[in-house]
Parts: sequence; structure tokens; C-alpha cells
Amino acid sequence: MELLGMTTIFLLVCVACLLLFATWRSMSRKEKEPPGPIPLPIVGSILQLNPWNLPESLRMLSMKYGPVFTIYLGQQKVVVLYGYDVVKEALIDQADEFSGRGVLPLIKKLFKGTGIVTSNGETWKQLRRFALTTLRDFGMGKKSIEERIQEEARFLVERIRNTHERPFNPGNFLIHAVSNIICSIVFGDRFDYEDKKFLTLIELLEQNNRLQNSIQTQVCTLYNFFPTVMEYLPGPHQKMIKNIEAVDQFTLEIIAEHQATLDPSCPRDFIDAFLNKMEQEKGNGHSEFTVETLSRTTLDLFLAGTGTTSITLRHGLLILQKYPEIVEKIQKEIDCVIGRERSPCMADRSQMPYTDAVVHEIQRFIDFLPLNVPHTVIKDTKFRNYFIPKDTIIFPMLCSVLHDSKEFPNPKKFDPGHFLNTNGTFKKSDHFMPFSAGKRICAGEGLARMELFIFLTSILQNFTLKPVVDRKDIDITPLVSTLANMPRPYEVSFLPR
Ligand code: HEM
Ligand SMILES: *[C@@H]1O[C@H](CO)[C@@H](O)[C@H](O)[C@H]1NC(C)=O
Repeated sequence: MELLGMTTIFLLVCVACLLLFATWRSMSRKEKEPPGPIPLPIVGSILQLNPWNLPESLRMLSMKYGPVFTIYLGQQKVVVLYGYDVVKEALIDQADEFSGRGVLPLIKKLFKGTGIVTSNGETWKQLRRFALTTLRDFGMGKKSIEERIQEEARFLVERIRNTHERPFNPGNFLIHAVSNIICSIVFGDRFDYEDKKFLTLIELLEQNNRLQNSIQTQVCTLYNFFPTVMEYLPGPHQKMIKNIEAVDQFTLEIIAEHQATLDPSCPRDFIDAFLNKMEQEKGNGHSEFTVETLSRTTLDLFLAGTGTTSITLRHGLLILQKYPEIVEKIQKEIDCVIGRERSPCMADRSQMPYTDAVVHEIQRFIDFLPLNVPHTVIKDTKFRNYFIPKDTIIFPMLCSVLHDSKEFPNPKKFDPGHFLNTNGTFKKSDHFMPFSAGKRICAGEGLARMELFIFLTSILQNFTLKPVVDRKDIDITPLVSTLANMPRPYEVSFLPR
């Protein structure tokens, strides 16, 4: 009898435990994290991720696990958001929670977490707000930003004219023109294209671009997988770190020159505006405005602003070679709205819906940053029915928005019709997110869109593009790399109109 009693109690305890376990499971199921492939120790999801085409690997995983899923880059957990709905819900509807910047180890090493792109918290808020107002043109120098771009476009056109129809790779011309816009805004003036200092600066930035986009990029990917080992190994990442230090040195010298000649009542450029802000905040013990954050912010504007815009233009000039009929239509609009004499300006754009649609379609088609730039959630976050712990890295995938076949029928085809109504007016799309969305949206969007419009129209106002190969052999599909979609190498000649 006693034995039976013991057994009963034992059974009762077991049942109670099971019940407790079940309720705990169902409670914790409400808090479950997004699904995903089971990671291997140390290497994480390496079996599911092809480092040569990460966007495609992630697309396949989204078909299996749905629009919100978890992967491991090495030991690093990443939640991937795939598709317009989830990207929008996160970046716009839950903007605050998703506004953190996820910093992979290599980036942390390169940028040290200050400046705008890689910072978080109060530093980010203050520096971003300052950059946005200053880039909006208030109280900075005698020339507006638009005039600076027009001026540069005229120098670019002259330089192209001097190639006398010889075919060449326009990459460097575009990089020089685009970085000169940042130079003009930050340092107060553009540089001559032959200026030694300028060429050294560009060469340093360019080397980093090349390193980043070479096959050796895979080394950087590795660095992100195995940061502690890579730190001690030689390789391109070491060179990148050196180059960034050299650019820093360059900016520090220019900042010192500005400090020596500053007239607070008449700021000449971004640096002067920043120095004024430093002065204003002098009493504040923990101001975010210091020479160090100024030089980081400057570097951020170069790194975030130069490669992105110039490579978008390089893609554009390749795509347009394949479609002479598109170029003709743009030129018709140019002749009709701007004529051949004066420089294109932003006010022209609203009267040039076809050209506007082509510029949008270039950015949509090339999908320059397919993975976006990594975010984090800044607190424990409930997203749909999932729980995402604070500081988890998030990839809000832009390729899944820009190439959504529901919004853009035939998304892999270059078709300005994606942004045109049937009556020829410009058609807006909330899927147009090459600059991302929400609180972290590209701080240079306005600037970049001015540059793309003014540079492209200035070039086509003056030249027609002549490819060196048969049009039907031109391959406009981007070369996918880990981070950015690059154009295939090409040469082109510019025939004066
Ligand atoms: C076609 C050209 C460009 C493209 C496609 C582009 C795209 C992007 C994207 C996708 C992001 C990440 C947004 C996010 O985290 O959600 C970003 C951030 C940023 N971009 Fe751009 N960008 C371009 C040009 C520029 C230019 C010209 C500047 C220079 C002023 C610039 C400055 C920045 C900065 C400072 C950030 C960091 C913003 C932050 O973290 O708060 N970008 N850009
Ligand atoms: C053109 O079509 C769009 C939508 O189809 C409409 O909103 C717009 O008013 C039309 N514009 C003109 C000038 O007909």
C-alpha cells in the first residue's frame, strides 16, 4: 500500500512537471526567435551561405524559412528580413527599435564606432542631425550644393571632350567628379583633377574600394567570420586599415588649416560649420563635437558618398549603351526642357519624367547594396510573433524590395516603364528603396540624387555613347560580390552631339 502511495505521488509529480513544462513551452513559444538552419559550431551557417553570392543564398533560405529568419555568420547571429512587408514593418513601423547600426568586426576595426555610419546612441543622433542640416545647405559657403554639382559637371564634360572620342573606362573620371563634390562641401573647394594631393587621397580611397571588391574580399568575409584570428594575419584588410589612417591624417591637416583661418561669422564649408558647433558646445563637458568626430564624419562622407554614387553612374553609362533608344528619348527631353546651352538643374527634373524614370530604374535595377548596411535592434524587440533580443544584427534586405516581382513585373529586366504611368507621367513606388528607409536612411540621399540627375543629364546633353562591342553582347547584369553589386568592366567612347 505504501509502495502504491509512493508510486502515485511520483506519477503525480511527473504529470505536474510535464504540465508545467508544456505551459512554459507554450509561453516561451510566444517569445520564440526567428527560425533558421541549425548552425554548426564555430563556422555557423557556412554550409547554407555561398560567400560569392550571399543575396541568392538568402533568397533560397527565405523560401524555406519565410520572410524572417536567423543565420549565423561564424558565431555572429543575424536576423534576415526578406521582402517588402517585413523590411517596411521593421524600418518604418518599428523604426526606433530597428535604428541601431550593426557593426561587423572588420568595420569596427576600420571606423572605431564614431562618425555617422558606424556609430550608435547619442553620438549618432547628434552627428547625423548636424550632417543633415548642413548638407541641406544652410549657412555654408557662398555656393549652394546644387551649384557645386553643376560646376563639377561642367569640368567633367570638358574632361570627357578632351578624350576626342577615344574609347576608355570612365570609372576614374566619375570617381574624381563625385569625390570632388564631397571635397567642395567639406573642404570648401574642389581640386584640380591633376592635383597631387587630390590624386593621393582618391588613390587611398580607391585602393580600399578595390580591395573590398576584389576576390580577396572573401578575406574580409573571413575576417567577419573569424575576427580574432584574422587580426593577426597579413592580408588586404591590413592595407585597408593603413589607408584609412592615411586619409585621417590628410583630413586632420586640412582641419588644422581651417582652425587657423576660421571666421566664425562666415563659415566656408562643412568643416567651418562643425568648428562653429564645437565652439558653441565648449561649455558642455561631454559634447559629441570634437576634432576626432569631425575627422571621422568627414571620412564617412567620403566613404559613403563616393563609391556608391560613382559606381551607380558607371552602371548607368553601361546600361545606356545597350539601349540607344532610351538615350534618344532622354536627349529629346533634354533638348526640349534644358536646351544645349545652360547647365541642367534640379528644377528641370519635374518636367522630365522619362529621364527621372530612367535614373530610378538604374538604381532599382543595379540594386547596389543588396544586403543594405547591417542594422541592430536597440532593445529587446517583439517583431511579428518573434522575439529578437537587444543588439541582434539585422539584415533588412534591399534586393528583396527592389526586385519584388509583385511591384515590378519582370524585375530582372531594365525597363524605365517600372516608373512610368501609361500616360507618360512619373510613377512613384514605395518599393524604391536603394537608400533604405526609416531612421537610418542614407544621410546623403538628397545629395546623391542631385548628383545622379545633374551628371547624367550633363553628359547626355553633350555626348552620345558609342560602345566598343556589339550592343547585343553588352552584359548589364551586375557582378555580385559580398556587399555591393559592381558593373562589369567596359570601355566606351563619347561622341559630341
Ligand atoms: C547612389 C548613391 C548612394 C546610395 C545607393 C546610398 C545608399 C545608402 C544605404 C543603403 C545606406 C544604409 C541605410 C541604412 O542603414 O538603412 C546609406 C547610409 C549612409 N549614406 Fe548613403 N548612399 C548613396 C550616396 C551617399 C552620399 C552621396 C552620401 C554623402 C553625403 C551618403 C552618406 C551616407 C551616410 C552618412 C550614411 C549613414 C547613415 C546613418 O547610419 O545614419 N550616401 N547609404
Ligand atoms: C496620368 O495617370 C496617372 C495614373 O494613371 C494619374 O494619376 C495622372 O493624373 C495622369 N496625368 C495626366 C496628366 O493625365
